[in-house]
Amino acid sequence: MKVKIDSERCQGHGRCYDLAPDLFGADDEGYGQVIGDSTVPEGQERATSLAASNCPERAIEILQE
Ligand code: F3S
Repeated sequence: MKVKIDSERCQGHGRCYDLAPDLFGADDEGYGQVIGDSTVPEGQERATSLAASNCPERAIEILQE
């Protein structure tokens, strides 16, 4: 499973890094960023889905492999 944030959609609501701080961080302006190489670590799938469904801009894309 991979995850990415569509930077065109992200408005910096911050729910992603509040809900899944191991997966997402904030850049200098508060926009979300994926930590690491975009591969979701084992055991973090639920947190990833939760963050994606809570992003008001639907900016988080989950890519199933
Ligand atoms: Fe951006 Fe959505 Fe996170 S708007 S900061 S990707 S909750």
